[in-house]
Amino acid sequence: MTKRIRKAVFPVAGLGTRFLPATKAVPKEMLPIVDRPALQHVVDEAREAGIEHFVFVTGRNKSVIEDHFDVAYELEDTLRRRNKTKEYAALMADLPKAGATSFTRQQTPLGLGHAIWCARDIVGDEPFAVLLPDMVTAPNGKRATRCLAQCMEAYAKHGGNIIAVEEVLPQETHHYGVVAVGKDHGHSFEIKGMVEKPPQGMAPSNLMISGRYILAPQIFALLETGETGAGGEIQLTDAMIRLSASQPFHGVRFDGKTYDTGSKLGFLAANVAFGLARPDLADGLRAELKRLLR
Ligand code: UTP
Repeated sequence: MTKRIRKAVFPVAGLGTRFLPATKAVPKEMLPIVDRPALQHVVDEAREAGIEHFVFVTGRNKSVIEDHFDVAYELEDTLRRRNKTKEYAALMADLPKAGATSFTRQQTPLGLGHAIWCARDIVGDEPFAVLLPDMVTAPNGKRATRCLAQCMEAYAKHGGNIIAVEEVLPQETHHYGVVAVGKDHGHSFEIKGMVEKPPQGMAPSNLMISGRYILAPQIFALLETGETGAGGEIQLTDAMIRLSASQPFHGVRFDGKTYDTGSKLGFLAANVAFGLARPDLADGLRAELKRLLR
């Protein structure tokens, strides 16, 4: 019997250097994919997967993130008075329940592993989810769920720790954390090894760790040591490698598409894909793209 996953951690303290100057004053997680901040898409995904408590690890210059998940009294009042009921209802539907969010700060961006460690006291002694907010996922239509819901299914089946993966071109693997495949069940598989940013040609597979995890709380003790890895950062992958010596890890081949919206190309591709998936925008956008490509 597995424990219910109630809490999710969203590390949003990174500097977003790949997206400067846009990210100088605006957190990259707040850049819009069509008309919703990237982070809102990811919170929607967590909510869809059954998450009840949303833990944000923020940093300096990120206070708009806290405001986004709070009431906006003046705006809501104006919408009500102007009878903009649809817009008002949409804002209300996105608002988390009172007490369902927590915010903590990573004072220095020492790496993803360190950001997760900053959430240790809020998460406590229970398994939890991690969602990287710049990795925005879309279902592929056949399966109507996004990535974390698919991870939850695998967790119900295997327990332990779960990591979502996605195929990348073999020549791209050195940019990512990559897993080695053990016993294969198709949609999910046993992970028999992991490596963060392997040197070119040395990756154990072309399956990159794509930004959704379900982790046991014992990961916090392993992150506590503060050991640095690839890029001089405290890497989550390194702590997971150590945890895998005593706990099972399974991979989930996400049936859908993940967009790295922290890169310019990924951000543009996500906007086109999400725009084309919107009934109110698809025809106009398609016509505009055709015109541009002519
Ligand atoms: P990235 O490496 O993609 O984010 O980390 P970054 O460092 O902001 O981006 P670049 O490379 O400089 O453009 C993945 C996620 O982890 C968070 C980031 O905010 C991002 O959502 N992160 C990363 C932290 O919260 N703290 C860190 O120290 C590093």
